[in-house]
Amino acid sequence: MKLLLFFTASLLAGLAYSAPTSNDDDETLVVTADFFPESLAVYTAEHDIVKLLVPLNALNFEDDADEEEESSSDSDALVFFVQADKNENGGLVDQGLFVLKNGQATKLLDHGRDAAAANDDTKTAYFAANDGIYAYNAKDNKAEKYGTVNDDLISIAKVNGSDVLYVLTADQVVYKVTEEGTKKEVLNKIVNAKELILDYQNNLYYYTNDNKVYVLVGDEVKQISGLPENASSVNIINPPFVIENGVPVIVDNKAYVAYENGTSELAGFDFQIKPTAYAMEATLIQFYAYEKKVYEYNILTILFSELLSELKSYLEDKTDDIQAIATRSRSDLRA
Ligand SMILES: *[C@@H]1O[C@H](CO)[C@@H](O)[C@H](O)[C@H]1NC(C)=O
Ligand SMILES: *[C@@H]1O[C@H](CO)[C@@H](O)[C@H](O)[C@H]1NC(C)=O
Ligand SMILES: *[C@@H]1O[C@H](CO)[C@@H](O)[C@H](O)[C@H]1NC(C)=O
Repeated sequence: MKLLLFFTASLLAGLAYSAPTSNDDDETLVVTADFFPESLAVYTAEHDIVKLLVPLNALNFEDDADEEEESSSDSDALVFFVQADKNENGGLVDQGLFVLKNGQATKLLDHGRDAAAANDDTKTAYFAANDGIYAYNAKDNKAEKYGTVNDDLISIAKVNGSDVLYVLTADQVVYKVTEEGTKKEVLNKIVNAKELILDYQNNLYYYTNDNKVYVLVGDEVKQISGLPENASSVNIINPPFVIENGVPVIVDNKAYVAYENGTSELAGFDFQIKPTAYAMEATLIQFYAYEKKVYEYNILTILFSELLSELKSYLEDKTDDIQAIATRSRSDLRA
């Protein structure tokens, strides 16, 4: 069931078609360029978009706000994104961290590389930049230096329910940062990490230079089993909130879910083409980046419209599950 929910409401709910696999009760979605119709593009950037974040906090969900209720199908989700170019060695050349709100993009940091937010009632997000940590000031729509960390950072993750941040430096040191950004402590257990992602139980996932995926649970590091050996590319992704103790992982052209217990399972997606960034955390409204554009997928709109008929027929089999997700409120998430 968990896996079915993942099929239903996560990964690329754009145009999809079901390709029969050898296994009859198993459906695989093959992701092609048709997944990215112009009608779903909500923003066109000048460079590749390499990170997307939809904060699941009061930046997007005002518990007491009915004033924004008027057009619930028209998303006005606030999304952070990072642009970069690739150099000859495959390294990234910073092109800025931006906030996208109502179709309007504002650059917040020239050298911002990653964004993270907790699932609480706060109205902020945290950014990793070349000179330390920044926090989002929603009122003034700008980034402000946070705490005293001044390292060259490439990845950041925010622990829910405390002030703990995990940050990864360009030379691959991981710090646990506490006391409002003023205290940092090296996490020696994590070596060769390239990116950090937390699940909703605050387990810390990362992948390494040799494209292996690990999870830090408490003090213990576990390698995720069941993923292909010798992969040439790995992405780890902020999970949709229906996955509580795991994160999506894309290894080469296949999607998996990696769990806190060190196992993984195939998630039924085959990528003929791959997005450059993923934001599926809000589950029923997801964003993906492809060829310098941000695309928005509103699962309910797709289901109830004539748009994207192939995906629609795929989803129609799963309306009960979608209904179940849709009726979960954000307070369920936090329960
Ligand atoms: C992965 O690479 C190692 C070392 O080159 C090799 O021994 C192993 O057979 C490879 N595994 C797969 C599944 O290709
Ligand atoms: C690991 O966790 C997943 C998700 O909770 C579960 O489906 C699976 O059975 C667990 N595997 C083991 C070996 O505990
Ligand atoms: C996240 O933190 C908030 C505030 O501390 C708490 O109410 C909520 O239950 C937590 N959510 C999860 C998924 O743990």
